[in-house]
Formats: sequence, structure tokens, C-alpha cells
Amino acid sequence: MQISFVEKCGQLADFAIQIVLTDKKNTETIIEQGKKSLHVGVGEKNKITRKKWILLLRKLIRTAKAHQFQHIALSLEDLTFPQVGITPQEMGELLGVQITLANYEFTIYKSKKEEKELQEVTIVGTVSDDFKKAVAKGMLIGEGINTCRDLANTPAMDMTPSILVQRALKLMVNEPVKIDILEKEKMQELGMGGVLGVAQGSLESPKFLIMEYKNSETKPIVFVGKGVTFDTGGVNIKPENSMLGMHMDMTGGASIIATIATAAKLRLPVHVIGLVPAVENMPSGSSYRPNDILRMMSGKTVEVLNTDAEGRLILADALTYAKRYNPQLVIDVATLTGASLVALGQVASAVFTKDEELQNKLIKLGQQTANYVWPLPLWEEFTEDIRSNFADLSNLARNLTRFGGASHGAAFLAEFAEGYPWAHLDIAPRMTTIKSDYLSEGCAGEPVYLLVKLLEQGGF
Ligand code: BES
Ligand code: ZN
Ligand code: ZN
Repeated sequence: MQISFVEKCGQLADFAIQIVLTDKKNTETIIEQGKKSLHVGVGEKNKITRKKWILLLRKLIRTAKAHQFQHIALSLEDLTFPQVGITPQEMGELLGVQITLANYEFTIYKSKKEEKELQEVTIVGTVSDDFKKAVAKGMLIGEGINTCRDLANTPAMDMTPSILVQRALKLMVNEPVKIDILEKEKMQELGMGGVLGVAQGSLESPKFLIMEYKNSETKPIVFVGKGVTFDTGGVNIKPENSMLGMHMDMTGGASIIATIATAAKLRLPVHVIGLVPAVENMPSGSSYRPNDILRMMSGKTVEVLNTDAEGRLILADALTYAKRYNPQLVIDVATLTGASLVALGQVASAVFTKDEELQNKLIKLGQQTANYVWPLPLWEEFTEDIRSNFADLSNLARNLTRFGGASHGAAFLAEFAEGYPWAHLDIAPRMTTIKSDYLSEGCAGEPVYLLVKLLEQGGF
């Protein structure tokens, strides 16, 4: 798909379908003097907010796709709502990102493509070269986000830990990113009992992916992503339908891979490291069991009360590993708990941090990028709950309560995120798109945009 520019409607190719925004509620196709245009109702124009503007843009693209149009024209004037307060520069980038996201479809397993993708979007209006550059940059970011979606949407038989790291290597082969992969033997040497424990029930060997992009002399920002390529729950196997979608339990890892690749492509002046522990959580004769006690890389011991609380076990070792970089900031991203979905619905990811400034920054970036995040507490009470009778910690509340489950997961991670500013994003709520996102079904590609923006602004 390409985005092109013309100054006036008269310069449009005859076959380009013009999209016109009206203040009605319905959408209709109009044919005037043989020329087709699509009138999309947006309701009361003065009620448009930033999020609504983004959704509107996606809706326009998806409506055009549903009509099988291949070339559409959008008028900048139509898309300008003064009260939203988007600068021209931002508008260019947002157009590039959101058009690219809305045009995406995961079709590689389809023998026949049912829906044709849009081939061209022409922006009608007077624009500067900087605006065009912003559009191109937005498209690049959009493609980065779609890479995350591709990785996460791929079923687990084609997205094992080995394949995931190979895909990362391939993605960044021409970029200035240094990639290291730790194998099982190395993890044994390092004492990564969390990663090894979760992985031991699977025929797939675990991988620990390390990506470094260094284009500044500052202390690095370290991103950690959960890379569970399939989560059956292990011996505490998930009941029937709850297992569906668990090929996407590596979305956190995929988002980190996509973020690093995008930062490198944009040549952002930052120093960033991505860590992705990748495992498959399977039940078998060699699985870890409830009541097993794992010795983690940090030296702390953890009693496994449920093999389905596996994400925190692999992330704990990655958070310990992060320490060696003396990071200015560490953020982990994980589809960690169903409880975060219960708390927030499917509208926002949960953010946990003891650093209020960082929390506010992440909330703000979330609003800017429409990758909403919202805080949940990290109180001491939750840490008390996860003390084990027989080990230092247990991987969920000792009394097995599910109440406060998202905070128990975060409190567990906090025990390993020591010695640097840290935030945990539980992205389970935003793992998959919902209807009102106006994006295709499957992975939502969050929080790639938020993290790219965080890097662009130089951390916090
Ligand atoms: N991967 C799941 C969390 C999840 C659930 C992500 C739904 C996306 C959608 C995680 O590993 C898990 O199973 N968590 C358990 C923890 C519990 C055993 C303490 C959960 O949330 O039930
Ligand atoms: Zn699980
Ligand atoms: Zn999981």
C-alpha cells in the first residue's frame, strides 16, 4: 500500500473513490456524474477526541476495504478537527501509522484472499515536505507494529522458541542491532531456574534472546518481553476454551522484537536492549510440577503453586539478567494474568510501578498512541501474600486466592526487579483486538507504538 498526495480533488485519478465525512450517522455510497464517493457519517464533529479521531481514521480504511475499494482519497480538510489539537506533524505520523494498521490482515494461511487490501490512499490538501516525511515515518512504525502482529498471530507449531529467535535474526539482519541467543547450556550455567523449569516439559528447547541497539552513550533502557510460544498451563492444564489464543502468549516478546527493529530502522539516538526469554509451557513426563521449588538466577527460591503462573518465572530470570547492563530504566511487557482483564476489560493494559513519574509518563504516552495503560497497585500486602512456607516466594498467593491476581503477579516480579527504575505492563487485556478498535481480529500490536514513542523521547 502506498500513500500519495495531491493538492486538489480535481487532480485525482477517475477511479479513486473519494471519502467524504458527514455529520450523519450512516454511511452511503454516492454516485455523481459517474464518479463514486463514499459518505461516512461521523455524528457530531465537535465531539471528536484524539482517540475517536484515530478510530475514525481506521474506520474509514476498514469501510473502504469492506467495499473492496483499492484506491481512496481522504481530504485533509475533512480530517481537521481543531478541538482535537493535533499538530500537522503529528497528523502526518498518525495518518501513516493508523492507515497501515487498519489495512493489515493476517492472511498467510489463507489459500484464497477474501478481502483485497487497499493499494493506495491519496491525501488531498496542501502539505509540506515535513508532513510527507512524517507520513513515511508513520508508515514505517505501522509496519513495525504489524510485524508484532504477524509474529503473535502465527500459530504455535510455526512459532516455537527457536523459530521466534530466527524470525528476530531475520528481521534485523540489515539493521545495526547486535543479537545474541543464549542456549539451554548457558542458561544452566547462569542458574536460570525459572526459564529452565517452565521449559522442561516441552520438546522445544528454551531460547533467551538478547538484542542490543546502541546509538547513544547513555545508560541503556532495557525492555523485557514474555515469550511463551504456547501456554497450555502445564500440568495445571487450562480447561478447554481458556487455552484458545494461548499461541499469543509471546505477544510481549514480539512487541519487544518489533520495538527494537523499529527503533533501529528509525535510527533513533538511543541505547536500548531487548530481552526475550522464550519457552513453551507443556504438560508431559518431564514437566515441572506443583510444589516443585525452583532456584532462580537471583538466588531466590520459588515454590510453584500452579504451573500456569509460568510467565512470572521466566521474566524473573530476565529481570535479574537485566541488572548487568546497569540500566537507566527497565520495562517488562507480558500477557501475564487473566485478572488484569477482569480489572480493566479489554480497553487498557495494566501498569505497575513504584515510580510515580514513570507511571504518569506511561499513561500519557498511552493516550498519545492510543495504546492505553492504566495503573493497578503494587502494595506490600501483595508481597506478603506471595511468601511461601517452604521457599522464599511462591508463584501466586500462598492462600491461592485469585483476588488481586494481577497485583500478585506484579509483586512477584518486583522481587526480582531490584536496583533500577522499573515498570511492568500486563498486556493481557490488549492482547487481541476488540470490535471497536476497527482493526482485524487477532493481535492488537500493543504496546509497540507506546514504546517507540518512549524511546523517541529519550526514556524518562
Ligand atoms: N498467559 C496467561 C494469562 C492470560 C490469560 C493471558 C488470558 C491472556 C489471556 C498466564 O500465564 C496465566 O495462565 N495466568 C494465570 C495465573 C494464575 C494461575 C495465578 C491466570 O491468569 O489465571
Ligand atoms: Zn499460564
Ligand atoms: Zn502465560
